[in-house]
Amino acid sequence: MDSHCLPIVALITGANSGLGYAIACRLIVEFFAPKADGYPASPDSASLTVCLATRSTQKAQSAIAGINAFLASRLPQSARSRLELAHVIIDLSSPKSIIAAAVELRSKYRRIHYVFCNAAVVPFVRIDWPMAARQMVTNFIEALTVPRYKVQGVGWLTEIHSRESHAKEPLPELGAAFAANVFGHYYLLHEIMETLHASAIAPDAPSRIIWVGSIESDPLTFDIDDIQGIKSAQPYESSKTLTDILVLGSYLPEVQEYLRSYTTIPSRGESSPPAYTIPPIFLITHPGIVSTTIVAIPWWQTYAKVAGFWLCRAFGSPWHCIDPFIGANAPVWLALSPNVDLIKGRKWGSACLWGDGETVLETQVDSDVAAYSAQLWSQMETLRTFWKTRLESLR
Ligand SMILES: NC(=O)c1ccc[n+]([C@@H]2O[C@H](COP(=O)([O-])OP(=O)(O)OC[C@H]3O[C@@H](n4cnc5c(N)ncnc54)[C@H](OP(=O)(O)O)[C@@H]3O)[C@@H](O)[C@H]2O)c1
Repeated sequence: MDSHCLPIVALITGANSGLGYAIACRLIVEFFAPKADGYPASPDSASLTVCLATRSTQKAQSAIAGINAFLASRLPQSARSRLELAHVIIDLSSPKSIIAAAVELRSKYRRIHYVFCNAAVVPFVRIDWPMAARQMVTNFIEALTVPRYKVQGVGWLTEIHSRESHAKEPLPELGAAFAANVFGHYYLLHEIMETLHASAIAPDAPSRIIWVGSIESDPLTFDIDDIQGIKSAQPYESSKTLTDILVLGSYLPEVQEYLRSYTTIPSRGESSPPAYTIPPIFLITHPGIVSTTIVAIPWWQTYAKVAGFWLCRAFGSPWHCIDPFIGANAPVWLALSPNVDLIKGRKWGSACLWGDGETVLETQVDSDVAAYSAQLWSQMETLRTFWKTRLESLR
């Protein structure tokens, strides 16, 4: 990206498990040792800092130990000395925790080049077995790609809301999936906006905000009058559809007014923000289908699920990447690709073809991005400024 002496800094949310952990591993490997047919090699002087955002120090430490073990045989010592693994604690469902993490990130890093908005929850309750049987019989691959039999909690709010709901003025509702999957990231990014602006004088490439979406996005699960998905029976899919609209809409002319307000560097105390800077860009990706514990099911169901994934791949599904490291292909590609102007404004997924290996494929977005973007951005900005005022008044 840039060749200055500052390290390239990547922040990854939900980096202690599944895809987030795999993104960390893959980013490091490809940053220092790009494949022959891949990106241009980073200069020998380039260094990389990967900051793992997790919900506890213990989770961060065990992820760092795992990454170090993974890299032992994959990175030469010369590259190892140019890598720093750091961490920050954050609960994306709690605006207070987000603010504390933002303060720490701003004090640690002058510039953050890549943010992987990866952390997410599925408010999973149980499997609807009759529905599962019906979908499996009707279309086995679809049943293991976009399962319609995950029963999810309707009206689930963040714990912070339940804990503080008897405060004098009730706190506004935050839908559980909406908060962790979208709004927590959205709020954090604004709070660290100065680190995401590139210098226009140098000039420098814009920071890349890589949102991890899903192949399960479905416009039928999204309601512009309930963007938090509080009334939805599929709040996870609603949050992922919202992510598509938010990111792809960020390139539309009617959204620029909101985008400008969002990406403006907040003024802090006496120092005024630099005048000539380049704001970050939003990119959207998904990992295909990978085997993780995002939906907590018993061990025997996990085995059956993974066997099903292999069958799907054998029968030609390109999306069953299964291994999170393969799922990390598209997210890492969006970060390191030199051709960002060619890939922005489209959704890219990790894919894996039996016999042909892994690849990145463009994924069709069915949502009416043009119809909803301005309204959605307006609502997100209203919610963000509301929370900001509210939290400042509580200080
Ligand atoms: N698995 C798939 O097939 C698949 C398919 C499409 C898209 N995706 C997307 O891939 C991303 C990663 O999912 P995954 O499958 O790797 O699941 P995962 O292993 O469960 O990882 C989710 C991560 O998010 C973190 N997280 C959840 N709520 C959080 C909160 N409130 N604050 C901070 N961190 C929080 C979790 O932390 P804890 O460990 O503390 O819970 C965990 O590290 C998600 O965006 C998901 O939608 C996955």
